[in-house]
Amino acid sequence: MTGDSTYVLGSTDLEHRRLMVQGRVLRPWTERFLRAAGLRPGMSVLDLGSGVGDVSLLAAEIVGPRGRVLGVDRDPVAVEKARGRAATEGFGETVTFEVTALEDLAGSLSFDAVVGRFVLLYQRDPADVLRKFTRFLRPGGIVAFHEIDLTNENSSWPPCPTWDDSYQLLAEVYWAHGTPPDFGRRLNRTFLDAGLPGPEIEAVGIVGADEGSPLFDWMAQSLRSLKPALRKWDLALPEGLDLDEGLADALRKAVFAQGSQVMGPIQYGAWTRIP
Ligand SMILES: C[S@@+](CC[C@H](N)C(=O)[O-])C[C@H]1O[C@@H](n2cnc3c(N)ncnc32)[C@H](O)[C@@H]1O
Repeated sequence: MTGDSTYVLGSTDLEHRRLMVQGRVLRPWTERFLRAAGLRPGMSVLDLGSGVGDVSLLAAEIVGPRGRVLGVDRDPVAVEKARGRAATEGFGETVTFEVTALEDLAGSLSFDAVVGRFVLLYQRDPADVLRKFTRFLRPGGIVAFHEIDLTNENSSWPPCPTWDDSYQLLAEVYWAHGTPPDFGRRLNRTFLDAGLPGPEIEAVGIVGADEGSPLFDWMAQSLRSLKPALRKWDLALPEGLDLDEGLADALRKAVFAQGSQVMGPIQYGAWTRIP
């Protein structure tokens, strides 16, 4: 069980732009997990914690015009942005978004798949959330989640303390907030606690080994979204770094000054089907 169910990264314009950077980095892995889970054209999909829409739009591409996707999120500004993107990208009625807290979502809707990315870790009782939404599935329905582990230590080699200490801050602030940064490692137990069949699980690491890697922007923007939480928990960046627009370049420069490569958060995909 996790502590604080509030979303530690907040609901600012900066955070919504960060989600889109993150969405570009993660898209290949989420797509791989969703396809491996069995998402196919014509299916109906419920996307929990849809943010500014990246996973819903990806699912909509997979299920095609005969399918249907509903993304739900309690952040009304994010939902409005997701709706705008779906319209601009021409998804028509394939994908819709609703403002609601997962706790409040009710109804007699039924889906072929329930999916989500980086949402279970923020729930007070993730197994309970899975149990609840499994009831929205048709027999044989798919449960597929993409989650993260931010706790890999010594992630640079040759060691780059500027990177390692900054990266470690992410996990520290998550722990302080009561959100488990190692949630990816808890997926099997969470599925079992929800009464689901044991999932297939895959993990991949995202390596930053060239200056064009988006990992630096992603990490810098994450730290910047976490600014209020870092303040609250009295956590600070390594000396010489600031939570401003130059942070990504400062991290990049420190890593490549010594020819290091770095490992970002480990990405976990877990999926199963209900009987
Ligand atoms: C890290 S973002 C991920 C967004 C999206 N899934 C993606 O991968 O781009 C987590 C999202 O979950 C939403 N969220 C977290 N807990 C929620 C809850 N209990 N009910 C509804 N939305 C929730 C937040 O508002 C936020 O938009």
